[in-house]
Amino acid sequence: MSESPPLTESSPADTEWQDEIASKGNLPRHIAVIPDGNGRWALSRGFARNEGHRRGVEAVRNLVRVSAQLDIEVLTLFVFSTENWSRPRIEVRALMHLLREKLLAETEELDDKDVRVVVSGRAHELPGPSYEALQETIARTENNKGLILNLAINYGGRAELVDALKRIVEEGIDPDEITEDLISRYVYHPELPDPDLLIRASGEQRMSNFLLWEMTYTEVVVTDVLWPDFSRRDFYEAISEYQSRERRFGKTGKQSAPKVGAD
Ligand code: IPE
Ligand code: MG
Repeated sequence: MSESPPLTESSPADTEWQDEIASKGNLPRHIAVIPDGNGRWALSRGFARNEGHRRGVEAVRNLVRVSAQLDIEVLTLFVFSTENWSRPRIEVRALMHLLREKLLAETEELDDKDVRVVVSGRAHELPGPSYEALQETIARTENNKGLILNLAINYGGRAELVDALKRIVEEGIDPDEITEDLISRYVYHPELPDPDLLIRASGEQRMSNFLLWEMTYTEVVVTDVLWPDFSRRDFYEAISEYQSRERRFGKTGKQSAPKVGAD
C-alpha cells in the first residue's frame, strides 16, 4: 500500500473507488482508526516528532472527507490516550496546542459538511484552552445530521469501564440488573453502533486500550503505512478488504463443513 501515489482532491480515481465500494454493499457503519507512526515518519525524514503530528492531521482531513462522501455513519479517531500523558512534556503540550489550533481552523468546514463532532474520554482533564475549543466545536456541530466524528481524547478502554461502573454504583443499580446491555448503556456514547472495522496504521498489531468494550467482533485491518502517508487510496483499500470479510460473530462460517481429513 505504501507505494500508492497520493490522490489529488476528488480525482477520477476517487469516483472509481467510491463507485466500486458502493456497488459491493456491506459498508461498515462505524470505522475506528488508530493513527500511528507520526513520530517514526518524522524521525525518518530528520524532522521533529511534532512535524509528524502536523502531517498526520492532513491524513485525518482526507479520512473525514471520504467518510462523509461514502455515507459512513461514525468515524472514531484515537487522538490521545490516557497513557499518552507519559510522553515528554514538550510533546504533550505540542499535541494539545495542535488539537486546539486544528479545531479552531476546521470547525467551519466540518459544520459545512454536516459533520457532528462528539468526544469520548475524560476531556475535562485537558488543558483549559484545548477543552474550550473542543466544547465550542461540539456545540457548533451538535445539530448536524451527517457523519459523526467521535474524537477519542484522553480516552482509555479501561478508564471508560471505570467511569461506567462508577455511574452504575452511584445510581444504586441492583446487581441482578447488571447485564451486558446495561453496561453498554453506560459507556461514553451508548447511542453509537459498535465499530465494524478497525484500521491501525504503522504495522503495530495491538489494541492499545482502545474501545475494549465495543470492539468484541470488530474486523481489524493493519496497514504498514505510517499515518502521515495514509492516503485516500489506503482508506479505500481497507474498506474494500472489510467488505470481502465474512463476519461470524462466534458462529460457524457460511461455507459447508470441511471434508474429513481436510485441514
Ligand atoms: C501517533 O503517532 C500519534 C499520537 C499518539 C497522538 P506516534 O506519535 O505514536 O508515532 P510513533 O509510534 O512514535 O511512530
Ligand atoms: Mg505510536
